[in-house]
Amino acid sequence: MKKISMLINAQDRISHISPEIYGHFSEHLGRCIYNGIYVGEDSTIPNIEGIRTDIIEAFKNIKLPVLRWPGGCFADEYHWKDGIGEKDSRKKIINTNWGGVSEDNSFGTHEFMRLCELVGCEPYIAGNLGSGTIQELSEWVEYMTLEGGSPMSELRKKNGREKPWKMKYLGIGNENWGCGGNMRPEYYVDEYRRYQSFCKNYSGNELYKIACGPSGGDYNWTEIIMKNLNSSHTKGISLHYYTVPTGVWEKKGSAREFDSDLYYSTIAKTLYMDELLTRHSEIMNRYDPKNEIGLIVDEWGCWYDVEEGTNPGFLYQQNTMRDAIVAACNLNIFNRHSKRVVMANLAQAVNVLQSLILTEGEKLVKTPTYHVFDLFKEHQDGELVYCFSTNEQAGEKDIIPLLSSSASVKDGVMTITLANCSIEEGAEISCDIRGFECSEASARILTGEVHTCNDFDAPERVSPADYAVKLENGVLSAELPPCSVVTVTVR
Ligand code: AHR
Repeated sequence: MKKISMLINAQDRISHISPEIYGHFSEHLGRCIYNGIYVGEDSTIPNIEGIRTDIIEAFKNIKLPVLRWPGGCFADEYHWKDGIGEKDSRKKIINTNWGGVSEDNSFGTHEFMRLCELVGCEPYIAGNLGSGTIQELSEWVEYMTLEGGSPMSELRKKNGREKPWKMKYLGIGNENWGCGGNMRPEYYVDEYRRYQSFCKNYSGNELYKIACGPSGGDYNWTEIIMKNLNSSHTKGISLHYYTVPTGVWEKKGSAREFDSDLYYSTIAKTLYMDELLTRHSEIMNRYDPKNEIGLIVDEWGCWYDVEEGTNPGFLYQQNTMRDAIVAACNLNIFNRHSKRVVMANLAQAVNVLQSLILTEGEKLVKTPTYHVFDLFKEHQDGELVYCFSTNEQAGEKDIIPLLSSSASVKDGVMTITLANCSIEEGAEISCDIRGFECSEASARILTGEVHTCNDFDAPERVSPADYAVKLENGVLSAELPPCSVVTVTVR
């Protein structure tokens, strides 16, 4: 058992934790939308207007705050007019990015907005700058948000939606350094300036425009974008970073079979997120010292080789306790960077990459990652407070800090989230809580052998349970088993 001392000072309020840090991503990819979130109105699976009821409930339970759609790379070729009007007459296309399968556009703007309404989350539309026109993007905004009297608002009404939707988050391009057009940052930023000029605020709707930011450690991209973007019209820039255990895209490693070296290298690679956020923020701080532009990590998570026997273009992977530790580490990192990081979207919500949810026919499994979002949800809208810990090392080849942590306060309640990243050693935590009147503490834990996952035969093999902690004279004591994620609630 490793001993770790912690100090939390609730008087030291650092930043507001935007709920959108706990956001998600849904792409027309594999079984994320079709045969995942959307089963169609005629399905025998319980649904509301074709959207699975159990998925709506699961999303609501974790207070899912924002959902990005329709891609990803799919967004770079998406033409929104294909996905409106009578379903029978919608254009059928080939999803050239993801498996070359047929896409009948039966899930389009109206269905996505309905999903967000049912979940109670903000929509985040990823606009097509890669292969779409300025007119197309500006008309999409008009279609969604302008009350009436214009060609697009009348078209929306004809399609059954009288009132405009509120649509705040608008991404102007996706991965324009890659699948979104292979652009140089100098070229992209000029295009961004043009496209954004024609995306207007209508009928009281205020757009939060997000420019395409860097891939991983491409600091030059951030530099050029920050230097040249029209900052008064831009609210955020994005960052994409995936955790690939081997670091080799051609052979990323299996979701379920890995040894302890590969486990620690996965965690080391995921902790690189901290360095990325620090260094991109440093660049942003130079151009935006008042912190007016948010960093939006709108794609993150583990990317493994697909499950054997599944379509390689569908990116379907299982999810183990390793993913739970990855999720907890990233969420703690985002909390700690919440001064600059205002949104993050895990890739992806259902059946794709590091999913919250896996489905097979009518069956639904909540992954260990889902349960981490459940354990962390009380951080949403909290105030990040100072939280320091001594630490111990875990791993041999890749040495990583054993404990990941963050703490916030909201409505007089403190939430502390901890992850023991070691898969061999327990951790004995002694945490001095200052500046906060408290008399009771309760905790929930998610733990299991690192390869443990939930599947359709055993959907609750890994699930959160109550956990005993002690609070005496402002000192919290807890023992974290190896490979565990714990939330402590202090009142
Ligand atoms: O999430 C899968 C893909 O990863 C997205 O479509 C793309 O934006 C990224 O490369």
